[in-house]
Amino acid sequence: MRIAIIGSSGLLGTDLLEGWAGDEIIPATSRDVDIRDFSQVHRFLIRERPDWIILAAAFTDVDGSEKSPELAFSINRNGPRNVALAARDTGAKLFYLSTDYVFDGLSDRPYEPTDPVHPLSAYGASKAAGEQAVQKHAKDWIIARTSWLYGASRPCFPEKILHAAETQPELKVVNDQIGSPTYTKDLAGAIRELIRMDAHGILNITNSGFCSWFDFAKDVLRKAGRSSLVLPISTAEAHRLAKRPAYSVLSPAALGAYGIALRSWQDALNDYLRDLRQKGKLR
Ligand SMILES: NC(=O)c1ccc[n+]([C@@H]2O[C@H](COP(=O)([O-])OP(=O)(O)OC[C@H]3O[C@@H](n4cnc5c(N)ncnc54)[C@H](OP(=O)(O)O)[C@@H]3O)[C@@H](O)[C@H]2O)c1
Repeated sequence: MRIAIIGSSGLLGTDLLEGWAGDEIIPATSRDVDIRDFSQVHRFLIRERPDWIILAAAFTDVDGSEKSPELAFSINRNGPRNVALAARDTGAKLFYLSTDYVFDGLSDRPYEPTDPVHPLSAYGASKAAGEQAVQKHAKDWIIARTSWLYGASRPCFPEKILHAAETQPELKVVNDQIGSPTYTKDLAGAIRELIRMDAHGILNITNSGFCSWFDFAKDVLRKAGRSSLVLPISTAEAHRLAKRPAYSVLSPAALGAYGIALRSWQDALNDYLRDLRQKGKLR
């Protein structure tokens, strides 16, 4: 199969690219194709003729999206719309990455793919609009919602915590947002399997289990052998621009129907730290 990875330079895209074997991969960054521009996307697909497109490109700055909602919507809504329209025209199937931030976090049980979305932020609203565009315009599609991504290819939450621990005597981390940290290598593996199985529909893909950002930070530091003091704070005390869901755990049931289950976030974190050490980013 020919697989185009749009967003191949990102946190997830890099791991998709590095771990994929047995298919022809066509990587694309924003320099190769700007998804805001339909004619660029269409030309790219006509030239490359992929069987599948993985759309991992997005504007992922959650607080930045509050400041520049037009930019967030131009990339996260118009981009998927352009890719979906061009995919339909060229006969490619579309795998679109979405987020737990399409939900408001008021649920008292893990979110199912069929639950109504109700985003709290401009980022969440722009990604929800991207989901709608994919469902409206693409012919064959998968929408995979995931959460709290981390990986060794780009700076992300655990690496920032490790860095902060080097320079600050105590760290303050939010303890009232609950979700599932997800290792990009595990997510990339599930994406590969779903494409091989020719899956369809909305699915949740996260590592199993859940925690708060505070729990996550404590486990990162403990496993890395750091003894820094971590103090729990509330979301209100963190003074972030964008509202975030207090509870955004995603149910694995629909993914399980394909026989796929991701390991626990704690086990995945061990591999991530090993990966960081191999890359010389952790002593
Ligand atoms: N990070 C998370 O915690 C998280 C959580 C849930 C869901 N997600 C979703 O998962 C997906 C992957 O996220 P990520 O964290 O891997 O993203 P990321 O590291 O921020 O990478 C974003 C990618 O999008 C590309 N891009 C940005 N604007 C573009 C444009 N106009 N045209 C073409 N490409 C463009 C970037 O290319 P350049 O390098 O060329 O700029 C980069 O490859 C996204 O859909 C995101 O919404 C992420």
